[in-house]
Amino acid sequence: MSQIKKCLFPAAGYGTRFLPATKAMPKEMLPIVTKPLIQYGVEEAMQAGITEMAIVTGRGKRALEDHFDISFELEHQIQGSDKEEMLSETRRIMDQCSFSYTRQVEMKGLGHAILVGRRLIGLEPFAVILADDYCITEGESVLSQMVKLYQKYQCSIVAIEEVPRNETLKYGVIEGDIESENVYRISNMVEKPTPEQAPSNLAIIGRYILTPDIFKIIENTPPGKNGEMQITDALLTQAKAGGVIGYRFQGQRFDCGSVAGYIDATNYTYQQQND
Ligand code: UTP
Repeated sequence: MSQIKKCLFPAAGYGTRFLPATKAMPKEMLPIVTKPLIQYGVEEAMQAGITEMAIVTGRGKRALEDHFDISFELEHQIQGSDKEEMLSETRRIMDQCSFSYTRQVEMKGLGHAILVGRRLIGLEPFAVILADDYCITEGESVLSQMVKLYQKYQCSIVAIEEVPRNETLKYGVIEGDIESENVYRISNMVEKPTPEQAPSNLAIIGRYILTPDIFKIIENTPPGKNGEMQITDALLTQAKAGGVIGYRFQGQRFDCGSVAGYIDATNYTYQQQND
């Protein structure tokens, strides 16, 4: 039975909703209180038993690589002080995981970013985390829940959640039949539909498990909404062959790609840490 060993983090987007903060700094380095979004994503992957992190970066994203590397001067400076503790989790991640990087030279959409990641993934099923979707759970991480489901279904899985009808324009929206509680066999999906066009109010969020045939499918899928290579369009080909499961995960998601979602996540996390 194939195991999920690698997690891909598409992190090459421009993050224009956060300008000017994201002019010279990747959106994925924005902190929720003191920890950057990308580190929350990596920790979630680790909780799912994954230790090989593959990150798709772009211009101006070097801070991502530096974050998971040693900073000699800084570490020397805080050695022996109580600040050392503040880096211990990051050090643990560096000890336990490997990191590989590749660059997306032209930002042609999420589907294209995933295709660029192929050289880091190879021919095995893999997880995808969009670090700007920040997920918190009381128990198992969202990706752990999905990896478990993969053991049963052995096909692509997308995390879904109910969204208000008037927000369907922001998401890929699914149509499907219930297999069991919270599990749907997807028959159709539409990228960013108007509320009238949306087949349901179940939206895909930034957690996926993909089978490697997706790469060839992306290559053969023409650009979709906004002229971008959409992962939803490629997934639709798999879904038409009965090969995509939608999973309504247990937990809470904050859309940290938007300023309002980012502020909510920050307030919520700060409150939790101080309760
Ligand atoms: P978004 O559309 O939310 O990110 O893409 P963005 O384009 O960076 O944000 P705005 O709208 O300009 O503020 C979802 C995810 O896909 C990645 C982004 O980094 C983000 O994690 N992405 C998107 C890529 O890696 N490459 C792309 O060409 C597009």
